[in-house]
Amino acid sequence: MHNIVQDSVKDYYGRQLQHTGDLKTSTCCDISAMPAWLKPVFEHIHPEVLSRYYGCGLVCPPLLEGCRVLDLGCGSGRDVYALAQLVGPTGEVIGIDMTDEQLAVAVKHKAFHVQSIGYDNVRFLHGYIERLDELDLEPGSFDVIVSNCVVNLSPDKDAVLRGVQYLLKDGGEFYFSDVYADRRVPAAVRDDSVLYGECLGGALYWNDFLRLAHRHGFLDPRLVTDRPLQITDPALAPRVGDVRFFSANYRLFKLGDLETACEDYGQAVIYRGTIPYCAERFVLDKHHAIDTGRVFPVCGNTWRMLHDSRFASHFDFIGNFERHFGLFDGCGSKLPFDMNTSLSGSGGTCC
Ligand SMILES: C[S@@+](CC[C@H](N)C(=O)[O-])C[C@H]1O[C@@H](n2cnc3c(N)ncnc32)[C@H](O)[C@@H]1O
Repeated sequence: MHNIVQDSVKDYYGRQLQHTGDLKTSTCCDISAMPAWLKPVFEHIHPEVLSRYYGCGLVCPPLLEGCRVLDLGCGSGRDVYALAQLVGPTGEVIGIDMTDEQLAVAVKHKAFHVQSIGYDNVRFLHGYIERLDELDLEPGSFDVIVSNCVVNLSPDKDAVLRGVQYLLKDGGEFYFSDVYADRRVPAAVRDDSVLYGECLGGALYWNDFLRLAHRHGFLDPRLVTDRPLQITDPALAPRVGDVRFFSANYRLFKLGDLETACEDYGQAVIYRGTIPYCAERFVLDKHHAIDTGRVFPVCGNTWRMLHDSRFASHFDFIGNFERHFGLFDGCGSKLPFDMNTSLSGSGGTCC
C-alpha cells in the first residue's frame, strides 16, 4: 500500500508536473511576498530550479550560519540552494528526495550554484523520508531539519517524525511547512490521486498532527505562520467537499524537558537584538514576537526553546523553574489557524 502511494506521488512530481504553474491550488506563493532580506538569496538560484518549486511555505528560519541542515523531500533543490547561502561556507545542507526526475534537476545545477554562491556545501541523496536511518547520516548530527510540503505526502508520518528525532541534535529543530485540514480528510479525498498529489489528500487534521508530534517527543509544537489554501482549479474544488485546507509552518524543538502545556514559572527573557536581520524583534512563533530590549514574560517551554537552543546567546534569561504559578495565560486548544481567506493577511510570512 505504501509503495503504491509513493509510486503515484513519484509519477505526479516526476512526470505529470513540469512547472510550479501546473499545480491546481494556491499552495505555492511567489517570491515577491518574501521578507526583503531573503530576496537576494533566491535571486542566486537557477531559473529551472525555481520553476520546479512545489513548496507551500518558507523554510528559512533565522540564525543558520554554520548549521548542518537536512531538507526532507528537497525536490529540485530550491530550498537547499537557498539554505546553502544561509548556513555559509562552514555549514552544510543535505537534500533527500525519492523522485529521480526532481533530483536530476537539483544535481544538474549544482556546478552553477557552486559558482554563483562561491563554495560547495551541498549534497543530494536519493532516499525515503520514512527510512532516514538507512541513509549514511550520523544520528543527532543536524542543527535544523526542514521540509517544504512533503510530510503530507508520506503514507507513514510516524516513521518520518521518528527519523527526525533520530537525526536532530539536542536543542535542534524541525522547521517545516506543510498542508493541514480543519477536520480528518474523508476517504474519497484521500484516495483521489490528484488531490493526494496536490498535497490535500494526505494532509493531517491539525489536532492529529499535534498528537503525532507528541507521540514522538515533540511536546510543544509551535505554529509560526499559516494561511488558508484556495483550490484554483474549478474542476477540483467540488471534490474536496467541506474540508478547509491551510498551509502552515511549525517548529518542533528536540528538547527533553518540554512539558505538554505552557506552564508559568514567572520567567522572562530579554532579546538582545543581535540575530542577523532581526534587529527590532525576534519572532519565535505566531504568539511570540519578542521586541529587542523588552522584558518579555515567557512560559517554561518558551524559556527552554530559547535557552537550550542555538538562540541562547542572543537572550538574557530571568528566573528559574523553582516556583510554579499554574498554567501560562493564553495556552489554548482551539483551531490555531486564521480563517480569513484574504491573502493580504499573510504579509511577509509567505514564501
Ligand atoms: C510538493 S513537492 C515539494 C518539493 C520541494 N520541497 C519544493 O519545495 O519544491 C514534494 C516532494 O517530496 C518528495 N517526496 C514525497 N514523498 C517522499 C518520500 N516519502 N520520501 C522522499 N521524498 C518524498 C517528492 O518526490 C517531491 O519532490
